[in-house]
Amino acid sequence: MNVEFYERIWMWAAVVLLVLFVGTILVTATGESMRPPSHMETIDPGALADSPEFSNPAVAMRPDGSVVVSIVAQMFSFSPNPIEVPANRPVTFRLTSADVDHGFEIVGTNANAMVLPGYVSQFTMTFSRPGEYTIGCNEYCGLLHHNMTGTLVVKDQGASR
Ligand code: CUA
Repeated sequence: MNVEFYERIWMWAAVVLLVLFVGTILVTATGESMRPPSHMETIDPGALADSPEFSNPAVAMRPDGSVVVSIVAQMFSFSPNPIEVPANRPVTFRLTSADVDHGFEIVGTNANAMVLPGYVSQFTMTFSRPGEYTIGCNEYCGLLHHNMTGTLVVKDQGASR
């Protein structure tokens, strides 16, 4: 088979690119342990009222000192609101939706998660700067999507530990 010189160059360029792309994924996945969020937990969005955790979503202090916040998003609010958490302690956010896809972004931080009905999204972060943070929904969820905000209050509680 006669393959023209320039065509051959481009064929090899395509092969090199493919190796490069796949290699990038392999190196970051194995070498740098970068992978998509792996937390996988399902929940019946129609039965949140029966869920011990999400029927009355709240901030819970665990005996080991960690803080867990359970949050339900639904058109067009987050519950609880405001959310009060202590500064300088790991806070685990557990989120689910009662209706459609929502977003949960704590403005000014890198906390940002999708909130999907049927799933519990979870991430943990520590806030070193006390103050009020705005929470925004960043997935279009309906007519009042732009009104769907919440407040996170990070309190400096050196004394209450
Ligand atoms: Cu909820 Cu947009």
